[in-house]
Amino acid sequence: MERYKKAFTDEISRALELDTHEVAKLVKTPEAGRGDFALPCFPFAKQLKRNPAQIAEEIASGFADHPMFEKVVAEGPYINATIRSAHVISNLVPQIRNADEHFATSDKGYGQTVVIDFSSPNIAKPLGFHHLRSTMIGNALANIHRAMGYTVRRINFLGDWGKTFGLLAEAYDRVGDEAKLNREGIAYLLSLYVEANKLKVSDPGFDEAARQMFLKQEQGDAHAMELWQLFRTISLKEFKRIYRRLEVEFDFYEGESHYRDGMDEVIADIHKTAGTREDQGALVVDMPYADDEPPMMLKKSDGATLYATRDVAAAKDRYERFQFAKSLYVVGTEQKRHFEQLKRALSAMGCEWEKQMVHVNFGRVHGMSTRKGTVVFLEDVLNEARDRAYEKMSADSADRNIDIKAVSEEVGIGGIVFGDLKNLRASDYNFDWDEILNTKGFTGICVQYAHARCCSILRKGGGAPEIGTADLSLLTAAEETTLVKEIGRIPQAVEVSANELEPSRLARAVYEAARAWNRYQQAGNNDKSLRILVEDEKVKTARLALVDATRIALERGLTLLGVPAPDAM
Ligand code: ARG
Repeated sequence: MERYKKAFTDEISRALELDTHEVAKLVKTPEAGRGDFALPCFPFAKQLKRNPAQIAEEIASGFADHPMFEKVVAEGPYINATIRSAHVISNLVPQIRNADEHFATSDKGYGQTVVIDFSSPNIAKPLGFHHLRSTMIGNALANIHRAMGYTVRRINFLGDWGKTFGLLAEAYDRVGDEAKLNREGIAYLLSLYVEANKLKVSDPGFDEAARQMFLKQEQGDAHAMELWQLFRTISLKEFKRIYRRLEVEFDFYEGESHYRDGMDEVIADIHKTAGTREDQGALVVDMPYADDEPPMMLKKSDGATLYATRDVAAAKDRYERFQFAKSLYVVGTEQKRHFEQLKRALSAMGCEWEKQMVHVNFGRVHGMSTRKGTVVFLEDVLNEARDRAYEKMSADSADRNIDIKAVSEEVGIGGIVFGDLKNLRASDYNFDWDEILNTKGFTGICVQYAHARCCSILRKGGGAPEIGTADLSLLTAAEETTLVKEIGRIPQAVEVSANELEPSRLARAVYEAARAWNRYQQAGNNDKSLRILVEDEKVKTARLALVDATRIALERGLTLLGVPAPDAM
């Protein structure tokens, strides 16, 4: 569709002697029934010294007999353009099929690196449901940038350093149970943490001992480090089990501990550049703060370093290694101040590149509880989603040949992931189990069904026809044109999602494509001549080519979002 938009704007900018980019920026998708592109003309009125309706008229008449547009009309100050159906079908269908798994890719990001810090949980605690957002928004953004040709570096900045691990190690030394730790893994670490907090209250010396333990870790003491290493290994093993289910991978597990030896150096650097000062015994960055703003702390009064210090070190390290064009931090809105301060401090240090760092913030999820209760672990949510999908599919599915067990994992997890990504990332949303598996809504399962349906029709129809064998001029139904246009919008949605760091834009486009597919199916149910597997071989072949293009587009869209696309459901 990009190509049509370009033709539209080129034509207009030539006629009006305006800059193409200026025109392109104003092009919109009109409401249904008004064509494919709309352009308001009032922004040009002043410059051209004519009224907008007049300009619209002029432009419209210039499009007479255009090979790509069947209708370009002025409606008051607007121009509405409709692409020729035959043109878009005969171009896009083979183009999508030729591209296949490269559909919706480009080289716009070629030669540029994007670093994405996402998921980044704290160790010694099971992944919570809230970790899903960072993990899946980050994963989708990574996939999307990759599709645009960027070099992508996926980093999991584990929270694996800090006083908590001194606290845990001290508690383990006192009351730890090795057998239990080996048996229960991270769940045991969580209970040990509860235990440690009790010790803090009951034993006046405990807190101080825990602090000493962390200082020992910072100094590399063998025993203190051994315990820390144990907690980390156990945690990572469990995190990876869940990442595997989500099909999420990282290039680097470089947590806070990765920077533990560079702390003095980074503090000296900040001291020399931005400047540091003492604040109530702590060392803070010396930069201007708002009245009620707590300063950015680098070192506590006992000498222990902090999260912010390690983030400064990590940011510099990432820039040195990757010279990133963008460095994204997919972290909840709660950390807004942290990232603002981080960027300000780097700027004060003379690191101009901090402008390329973006806090990709996201809102909270309300109303989540599982059958097990309200303390929500991600793994329980994924299990429940799988089980609910299983129940639904055992009841609904007519096709007994499919492996319901395997598919319900894909449908359940896909439902949760899509249900998350479809929301504007910065907004909060309400989680609702009934919505997740609603086949008729703006849901993952709706898109997955559409995709599986394409696959099953192709199987029934004897496979996808060879490219070039179909006479696409036989695709004349309005539903066919709409479907082609909707799948054709996916590449642009990928680009917009990357530029706006907003996977919801792609989720919406993929869903609209699935909806157009459903309407096509519906039309075939109402009117037998519109069925795909009709008698007429030529018509059937043309329609199967369209089904194949749809399958590719949906599969690509889902995959970029990180949602599985089963081929039978
Ligand atoms: N571990 C942190 C948390 O769970 C998130 C880290 C995000 N990344 C970063 N570079 N600060 O809150």
